[in-house]
Amino acid sequence: MSQSLILNGVPWFDDDGHAVNAHGACIVEDAGRYHLFGEYKTDDENRFAGFSCYSSPDLVHWRFERLALPPQPDGPLGPNRIGERVKVMRCPATGRYVMFAHADDLGYRDPLIVIAVSDAVNGEYRMVGPLRHHGEPIRRWDMGTFQDIDGTGYLMTHEGDIYRLSDDYLSAEELVASDIAPGGESPAMTRIGDTYVIMFSNKTSWDRNDNYYLSAPSPAGPWTYRGLVAPQGSCTWNSQCSFIFPLTLADGRTVPMYMGDRWSFPHQVSCASQVWLPLHYDDVDDSIGLPDYWPAWDPRTGEPGDLPSGREMAAELDSSALGEEIRLSFSCGERERLAVIGTTDIDGGYAMLTIAEPNGTTVFSSLVDCYSPTPYTGVMFVCPELTAGDYELRLRTTGEASVFYKKDGTRLGSTGTRVRTTAIRLI
Ligand code: GAL
Repeated sequence: MSQSLILNGVPWFDDDGHAVNAHGACIVEDAGRYHLFGEYKTDDENRFAGFSCYSSPDLVHWRFERLALPPQPDGPLGPNRIGERVKVMRCPATGRYVMFAHADDLGYRDPLIVIAVSDAVNGEYRMVGPLRHHGEPIRRWDMGTFQDIDGTGYLMTHEGDIYRLSDDYLSAEELVASDIAPGGESPAMTRIGDTYVIMFSNKTSWDRNDNYYLSAPSPAGPWTYRGLVAPQGSCTWNSQCSFIFPLTLADGRTVPMYMGDRWSFPHQVSCASQVWLPLHYDDVDDSIGLPDYWPAWDPRTGEPGDLPSGREMAAELDSSALGEEIRLSFSCGERERLAVIGTTDIDGGYAMLTIAEPNGTTVFSSLVDCYSPTPYTGVMFVCPELTAGDYELRLRTTGEASVFYKKDGTRLGSTGTRVRTTAIRLI
């Protein structure tokens, strides 16, 4: 059953069993398939390792297409650079796919918005260079893109600058709004009827915070602050906005789908995950929001779904020390998946999960992140599908946690290294 549901806040696996490695992502719907572009992270540092492209018929099953933009031999995304928040739009005037991204040095002191192009959505993109406005590169870091229904393309940057792109999308033609969100990062925009909505995160590095939004009758404004995207203190359900995708449901209705990152620095491949939820729209006051968190939901109906109840076994671990572990033997049916149930909190650390055959051969292992600024109890991790058989689960504390620093030196992330699990469930 879980096979048709989007599972929030847990890493996903592609059809080869590898983690879906696409963060700060966007979706491009093309010829009946969804294409997911995102940052192809590593598990130990922040250097640019490429932008990935995955595709899916249903937003649940993902196939790795390629590194749409691999690390470059030189230039803004060459060695010792970072690349973030990749976005792709098909340019209606040229028919080409144009990629936009933030490129920078490792200290975030040389920000540029760069563009790359491809004739096929899932092709390898060719670097064009910095995006320019009046001939000058745009020196901003966090960015997003938005395509209006008439095909006009926009680039949004941190602090809330909005540029209308040229017809070929290869330059920024006009700064239509400026500084609408001082201190705002990771802009994401959509249009609902005749109302434009733009979301921002706050500057908390890889940490989540209460994201907020503004609305306007046009991308040029006037923009009005409208409040938080999700209930105060939920830290946008432990996520940071990246994109709003117009999702067409099976009944033909289109709903704006919020896409946000649950970063896990430095172990972004193993543990960073996504939170995708349909945005609730209230036409009485033209407001949007994410009033509830759905751990699982069906992208065909836009309704929450239940994770299969499955067989459950106690798997109790509560420790902050290094090397505490539990071992548990279990047998599972064909294509069953093992879900770890527990609590994530401000003091959470990383656990190492290993699934081995009775002869000791490891069939799967991954770190599991137990950190979240807003506490959560539920499914913390779901492994890829297993083949029927007997296995041993080993869950071990690592004494390590997600910790990172803001540019001003402020320490952010977990306050401890605690791992708290109560059960495993076979789903
Ligand atoms: C975030 C930003 C991310 C990344 C991170 C690095 O605030 O949204 O894209 O730049 O900071 O600390």
